[in-house]
Amino acid sequence: MSNIHLKSVAQIPQNTSVVYIADSHTAWEHLGFTEEQQEFIKHQVAAEAFPIVINDYHRLRIISYFKREPDLYIAHENCRIAAADSVQLLNKYKVDEAAVSNESSIPNAAWYFTEGMTLANYQFLKYRTKDAGKIKNSLKTILLPEDSATAAETEELQHLLDAVCIARDLINEPPVYQTAQHLAAEFQAMGKKSGFKTTVFDKKKIESLKMGGLLAVNRGSMDPPTFTIMEWKPKNAVNQQPIVLVGKGIVFDTGGLSLKPTLNSMDFMKCDMAGGVAVGCALYAIAKNKLPVYVIGIVPATDNRPGENAYVPGDVITMYNGSTVEVLNTDAEGRMILADALSYAQQYNPELVIDIATLTGAATYAVGSQGMLLMSNAPRRETKALKQSGLEVYERLVEMPLWREYLDQMKSDIADLKNVGGSEAGAITAAKFLECFTGYPWMHIDMAPVAWNMQGKNYRVKNGSGKGVRLFYQFIKKRAQQTQ
Ligand code: BES
Ligand code: ZN
Ligand code: ZN
Repeated sequence: MSNIHLKSVAQIPQNTSVVYIADSHTAWEHLGFTEEQQEFIKHQVAAEAFPIVINDYHRLRIISYFKREPDLYIAHENCRIAAADSVQLLNKYKVDEAAVSNESSIPNAAWYFTEGMTLANYQFLKYRTKDAGKIKNSLKTILLPEDSATAAETEELQHLLDAVCIARDLINEPPVYQTAQHLAAEFQAMGKKSGFKTTVFDKKKIESLKMGGLLAVNRGSMDPPTFTIMEWKPKNAVNQQPIVLVGKGIVFDTGGLSLKPTLNSMDFMKCDMAGGVAVGCALYAIAKNKLPVYVIGIVPATDNRPGENAYVPGDVITMYNGSTVEVLNTDAEGRMILADALSYAQQYNPELVIDIATLTGAATYAVGSQGMLLMSNAPRRETKALKQSGLEVYERLVEMPLWREYLDQMKSDIADLKNVGGSEAGAITAAKFLECFTGYPWMHIDMAPVAWNMQGKNYRVKNGSGKGVRLFYQFIKKRAQQTQ
């Protein structure tokens, strides 16, 4: 959960610390600075020494100055990044409440700036027993005057940022605590809080449905799998057929018997449910803000372990849709559980299905940690809209092809498919595998590159990133603006 309370105010109260969002258009004369202070500000602007701090002793005034860019979405990202610097200062000075005032030429800059501040202020202190009090950030409240953000926007943003921070919490939770059952219970609790309906299938139900992919991956585990369905169906929905979001929910990936080669590759595999978490948390934000779009979220979940009865290379698994898969690497488990979920989505007659998964290391080789991969067989309009949403929230997507020839790499000698496709184009062959289980317009996001921040930078703090939540929210919000 976010540790910031956003509060809408008619005006900034006196004696409150303020962060001014400023650019070359800012009218300093109107902000109540003395002439001396204005001189100082101009001097600092010329020297590009930011952020500028005016210490009035009873309060701080910070001027966060950034350059306007020809591309608006880059200017917005500059806002988020600049905000992180201000948060650092406010915490250094032990300020607990600060207002944000947009004095720049960019409309809605306060929205982006507040995103950056809140996400930069995030901390995961649940397991600190000794120094939590000492390292805890002081900033707790951000005041947003109505001329910078309306009361409705402030509330919407609070729900969205809460959702991102819940996602980070769930990713950061250790696997010893967060089993598949526990994750499902978290989704249930989020449904109760926000208004979406949750159904959780237990192992017995999953067995009766013959979800062979999910059951195969679960065989090496001590803990049962879960299959969670989250439904947000508002009466005023603009769409009749739902948009279905499917997320990979591997609560820990050891690789199974094809154990991950050591040298740190397993250290952060508790992030392997980041896709599932992005789906659940996006639904939370969508429901909390009552977006008029019919959306369903599906998260198949289990850990992937080399227990006694674990599935082995050479096994042939009959999947939920009746097709067969030869397992040649138990570490390619994400596609096994997602395939069943994608087949299951068919019954909803969806207008569109988007899955999101920490699916392949190959995706990281392709784009580093700067973006996610997108593969799509949906109409161009949908693909473009998702990519555009990605730019707007700065969770960027790079499109890869789904050319039919790649499927040849997934052909098995003895079954319909095999679960690995060799060393070339690993992210694409994984997607081609998944495509075999779809019969509707579909987009696949490989978020392996961005689920986990090895290092923290500005508002992208270290560890669980919470990526995908703002992306889905933006995409669904824009869908709400189209009538059909
Ligand atoms: N969970 C991993 C992928 C991953 C890598 C996630 C890095 C986050 C960061 C996935 O289950 C996996 O192990 N993929 C294999 C597939 C291979 C065996 C075909 C991979 O990418 O090595
Ligand atoms: Zn794996
Ligand atoms: Zn995995």
